[in-house]
Amino acid sequence: MSVKRPSKEQPNNFEFSSASLKAAKIIIAKYPKGKQQSAVMALLYIVQKQNSNWIPLVAMKYVAKFLEMPYIKVYEVATFYTMYNLAPVGKHFIQICTTTPCMIRGAYKLVEACKEKISKKENELSEDKNCSWVEVECLGACVNAPMMQINDDYYEDLNKENTLKILDKILRGETPKPGSYRGRVNNEPENNRKTLMDLKNA
Ligand code: FES
Repeated sequence: MSVKRPSKEQPNNFEFSSASLKAAKIIIAKYPKGKQQSAVMALLYIVQKQNSNWIPLVAMKYVAKFLEMPYIKVYEVATFYTMYNLAPVGKHFIQICTTTPCMIRGAYKLVEACKEKISKKENELSEDKNCSWVEVECLGACVNAPMMQINDDYYEDLNKENTLKILDKILRGETPKPGSYRGRVNNEPENNRKTLMDLKNA
């Protein structure tokens, strides 16, 4: 897994857009009065969504003020969890899971595809500046290994060939179909069920 550090280049200002402000208020309203700090992770996620997939330091300060909590506490959360990007990434942000189940099912072939199509090194933008990729730990779809996440979508049961095709589509500005690339529905067994045959809806 790569080490994430705050970008050397930082914007001077950040504030929520009206849509983000509305989303933040809805989240905060779910917590009891005085416990609004519990919304910090959700608010950082809203920042990331608004700010092209990454969280600048000025936005952490903004969230700290918004939630009336110390900046250092927001900084600690943002720098601890790997789902928060601390430096600019591509508009199409590709995360390849290389944890053991995906690794033994060929995840490094997917990494090869990213190196060929996007950039030689992770966290580097593609030539057209629209894509970047990174290796990550388990994304919770091990049963459909190997897999990758592109922005909010999961692409599963992959091999190098179909990964190259998916990346080609992304680079052409198209949206490839998410889900299994071996024709499975969700994570159903391949070649039909072999257990619990007497149960209709198992
Ligand atoms: S190991 Fe890759 S999704 Fe869990």
